[in-house]
Amino acid sequence: MCGREKAKVTKCLFPVAGLGTRFLPVTKEIAKEMLPLVNRPIISYGVEEALASGCSDIIMITGRAKRSIEDYFDRSFELEQLLKARGKDELHDMVVGISNLAEILYVRQREPLGLGHAVLCGEPFCRGEYFGVVLPDDVFVGDVPVMSQLIDVHDRLGGTVVALERVPRGDVSRYGIVRSEVVEGGIHRILDMVEKPSVDEAPGEYAIMGRYVLSPSVFPLLAERRLGAGGEIQLTDALRRLAETEPVWGVVYQGRRFDCGTQKGWLAANVQLALEDPDLRKVVLDVVKASQ
Ligand code: G1P
Repeated sequence: MCGREKAKVTKCLFPVAGLGTRFLPVTKEIAKEMLPLVNRPIISYGVEEALASGCSDIIMITGRAKRSIEDYFDRSFELEQLLKARGKDELHDMVVGISNLAEILYVRQREPLGLGHAVLCGEPFCRGEYFGVVLPDDVFVGDVPVMSQLIDVHDRLGGTVVALERVPRGDVSRYGIVRSEVVEGGIHRILDMVEKPSVDEAPGEYAIMGRYVLSPSVFPLLAERRLGAGGEIQLTDALRRLAETEPVWGVVYQGRRFDCGTQKGWLAANVQLALEDPDLRKVVLDVVKASQ
């Protein structure tokens, strides 16, 4: 294993250019990543996870109609002044804190050509380095950030690492599905993978979830711009080819995942997390009780 493989993972890409059609009409004007999950936007959960995992540079691969993400993480002078003048110090500090969270760079993905293309747009910032990818629709809650679980495996074994979850057969067509062999508790070596297969084509029962530590060797593969499922440049297809020459590990992550990429999943996540919040639990229970 060469020294480069052990270098720290400090950069993390966030592909956020997606149109969010599942949330129309809301996403006609609002980035889906800005929808609230209890008390803050969905995107902030992923950013907090990346920072807690030791990544210091956040690179958002963004697109049209996503300005609200940039504005959210930017300073907001008028609001800050107003809150200060009104003696709302706690709110003031919270607002300032958001803009101080991280160094964030923004790159435009000019055409919606798929997740693989979005990752390729981050190449100028990650050349020659292993880097993280967070798909913010997948929100993880647990004691150890999922990105740091992946980085730990990368530090120990080198190579590319993806998060895995076993999914019911009926759900395979929503994910990248892997064929793998277990190498130690919770860690798989990935041998093959297929993006959004039918039940019959699925090579296994573990799905890739939205966290990756990627080798920079993925960039030349993505740059070939081969089209895959849905006529898009798929990250899964590039990883499948990468696995022929470099190790690709899967980590069956510890923690809970909320799929905030669909209206139902997003609603369920809000209800569940509100139930776990001491201030909000009663609100949810009262509403449910009153409606029975
Ligand atoms: C993407 C990936 C897929 C992965 C999924 C996890 O799909 O392409 O391999 O399983 O995220 O959420 P998307 O949800 O963008 O269609």
